[in-house]
Amino acid sequence: MKTIIVFGSFVGNTETMAGYIRDGLSQSGIEADMRDVMDVTAEILDEYDLLIIGSPTYEPKMIQEDMLPFYDQLESMKLSGKLAAAFGPGDSAWPDFCTAVEMLEERLRHCGAELVIENHMVDGIVEEHEDETLDWTKRLAQAAKQKSAG
Ligand SMILES: Cc1cc2nc3c(=O)[nH]c(=O)nc-3n(C[C@H](O)[C@H](O)[C@H](O)COP(=O)(O)O)c2cc1C
Repeated sequence: MKTIIVFGSFVGNTETMAGYIRDGLSQSGIEADMRDVMDVTAEILDEYDLLIIGSPTYEPKMIQEDMLPFYDQLESMKLSGKLAAAFGPGDSAWPDFCTAVEMLEERLRHCGAELVIENHMVDGIVEEHEDETLDWTKRLAQAAKQKSAG
């Protein structure tokens, strides 16, 4: 299963989460490519079967600035037949917790991708939630393998 993790990250937390997810997938036998959203366009998703996309939230109902061009390109992509999942860090001290993750999920669904697992949102310091992220990743890998087998 060709797998890509695309992340946008201003301070580095989403990138840290993306690294945990890549390691967790590897432990489940899935080798994923990990790309900073600044280095790719949404067309790259055509090459993959499993799409894992991550963004922090900096303003209510707003995609992180680096992620915006990719998010806009995504709108016209046809992703039916592809499996997907969304993740991101946030801070519940802010009124709209992790709304960018929900926006990513909505867009993936709009493009026809099948979300294989509920999203993964981390509240606060991502390093304190590494085990949780690895656990989510294992469940994601299991669900994706089941879907692609059947
Ligand atoms: C100015 C500012 C605004 C933020 N607004 C939100 C918000 O509306 N919702 C939320 O869940 N987190 C919010 N956060 C928390 C960030 O999403 C969080 O720190 C995240 O880990 C940053 O990810 P990054 O290091 O990948 O950029 C905000 C942080 C800052 C500094």
